[in-house]
Amino acid sequence: MDQSIKEAAEKAFKAGVGEKTNSRDDVVKMMVKGMGVHLYPDKALRAVCETVKPEEFDDSLKMFVEAMSTVMLQNGGIGISAPQVGVNIRVLVVNLTRKNEDNIAIINPRVIETGEEMVTAKEGCLSFPGVEVKVTRPATVTVEAESFDGKTVTLDLKGLGARVVQHEMDHLDGKLLIDNATGIKRDMIIRKMKKIVRQAKNQNKPPKRRRRKRG
Ligand code: CO
Repeated sequence: MDQSIKEAAEKAFKAGVGEKTNSRDDVVKMMVKGMGVHLYPDKALRAVCETVKPEEFDDSLKMFVEAMSTVMLQNGGIGISAPQVGVNIRVLVVNLTRKNEDNIAIINPRVIETGEEMVTAKEGCLSFPGVEVKVTRPATVTVEAESFDGKTVTLDLKGLGARVVQHEMDHLDGKLLIDNATGIKRDMIIRKMKKIVRQAKNQNKPPKRRRRKRG
């Protein structure tokens, strides 16, 4: 599987930029075009993602994050993780206001401390359109992560921010919303997602002539 950000950026270049000279923004737009939200049960969603290495903190990482943020906002999300756009690296974006300038990139996050208080609330996920599942999580969490310049930052999170970051961090370990559902609810989600994936596939395919099962 295509793992590195550089490869993703190069792929985007190849996807249509060609030999024309393009601005950085054009390249990000190309990346967005080539990027879709991966839906359950896509394999990329179950992988344990790789840490971004020190040498990978460059402009292609920034461009990837910009593209990923755009995909999140286009789909009405307040958080997205790299595996949801098919790249298995430990990167996520959170945006509680849905305003472009409020995108927060969180690279290589790790939980340092969690509060004792637990809160249960419904969560959604871009990889499970229209699905909501109740999830119990610590109300507060302290997360350490890297900023774009590779410096370590500490985030003290509470409320929705704490919830979204914990949800997105689950993605980096291949843990999904459906893992919080059991029994009938879980079966219902699986059925719903099968239908959605089938519909999405049909939308992307040119119409096929129907084949008769028997002559
Ligand atoms: Co999600």
